[in-house]
Amino acid sequence: MIPAAVAAKLNEQITNEMNASQKYLAIACQLETMGLTSLAGFFRKQTEEERAHALKILDYLLEVGAAVALAPLPAPQAEFATVVAAIDASVEHEQLVTRQIHDLVALCEREKDYATRSFLQWYVDEQVEEVSSMAQLAQVARLARENLLQLDGYVARLLSK
Ligand SMILES: [Fe+2]
Ligand SMILES: [Fe+2]
Repeated sequence: MIPAAVAAKLNEQITNEMNASQKYLAIACQLETMGLTSLAGFFRKQTEEERAHALKILDYLLEVGAAVALAPLPAPQAEFATVVAAIDASVEHEQLVTRQIHDLVALCEREKDYATRSFLQWYVDEQVEEVSSMAQLAQVARLARENLLQLDGYVARLLSK
């Protein structure tokens, strides 16, 4: 078994990851509506990844015999004024998730829960990549400015790699 405080925080993190998944799905819908299909595809892929992050924690809780408690999700923002605003919000969200993961790691160390600490290393590493790829997209979106089709083409090439 793992400490109750760690189990509670892991349950919260399931909600945080599902929340990220919902946010990206809403952004994908707006982008699809705008005709930016590749960019929408990028956010669809993120949606699936965030759900996978949530399920990986859920499976860990089940594996260590801790209870899973799913919580309701807040409604995501459905519309952003600009594509850059939507991507900037996503960068901020990735930074928030990084802080949440780091707080979890700190809690594990305080509680001497070295098993969960080890499990979370994957998330620490994953967040470095997630923040970096979203920040890169934000940078390219700024370069493209009003040329949204050029941005969509860039993402299409990125996804085909
Ligand atoms: Fe995630
Ligand atoms: Fe993420």
